[in-house]
Amino acid sequence: MDSNLSSNIPVPIFELKNVNKQFGSFQSLININLQIQAGDRVALVGSSGAGKSTLINLLNGTLQPSEGEVWVLGRNLASLRPKSLRQVQQQIGTIYQQFHLVDNLRVIHNINAGHLGRWSFLKAAVSLIFPRDVETAARALKQVGMLEKLYQRTDRLSGGQQQRVAIARVLVQNPIAILADEPISSLDSERSREIIQLLRQLSQDSGKTLVTSLHAFEYAHTYYQRIIGLRQGRILFDAPAEAVSPAMVEALYRLKD
Ligand SMILES: Nc1ncnc2c1ncn2[C@@H]1O[C@H](COP(=O)(O)OP(=O)(O)O)[C@@H](O)[C@H]1O
Ligand SMILES: [Mg+2]
Repeated sequence: MDSNLSSNIPVPIFELKNVNKQFGSFQSLININLQIQAGDRVALVGSSGAGKSTLINLLNGTLQPSEGEVWVLGRNLASLRPKSLRQVQQQIGTIYQQFHLVDNLRVIHNINAGHLGRWSFLKAAVSLIFPRDVETAARALKQVGMLEKLYQRTDRLSGGQQQRVAIARVLVQNPIAILADEPISSLDSERSREIIQLLRQLSQDSGKTLVTSLHAFEYAHTYYQRIIGLRQGRILFDAPAEAVSPAMVEALYRLKD
């Protein structure tokens, strides 16, 4: 048992200690140290190639660090057996840029995929013919403002609607933390703002921790409490949104060193 689980000191939801991540000889993340606490709303910003997706994938255990430690909910992921790792991962919901939905299924089935960590294979398979737990799916779809689309085929929906389905799936999963990796980069600006507002509202209402990576800075300032700026694999700043100055943003996106 980890000693800090039994004490009253709140355990961070995420903690990275001296993390490096290499792909071959390329250093994607360099000496990353950070803590994210329960209920935090964090924007992870930086140019393409800065290391945002790599960091998100370390937080949800899809990737392992080359050096250093990734702690989630007070557990060092590298120390966990597969079953415990899956239990921790069940508490982390991820939303991706490309939605990761199955196009030719109806919306309800994509939303019910949020149960997959808990449902047996058989239950999940039977549910494809006789949908299970329609109420939970409908409630989640209502929360993202699309109740009327429950039985629509997913590929008939617009990009913004598909991203809402992906968010509804995460709501059904009901994790402690939501990671969103550039959730708006395939959407127009109107849809982008709506999705960012929706993520903020859902995380505020439920108290879920939210980490969103964003290529552009514009929404980070308005909708997040804390901004982590990544540049070429390093944390350039990690500050409350109101403390991030134009000069810091300029340094983050500057083309040359
Ligand atoms: N699986 C991989 N194999 C090799 N290089 C990778 C891999 N994933 C990411 N990289 C490299 O790591 C750097 C950071 O990538 P990424 O985390 O995707 O950045 P971002 O999400 O900020 O655009 C990039 O230079 C990218 O080419
Ligand atoms: Mg990325």
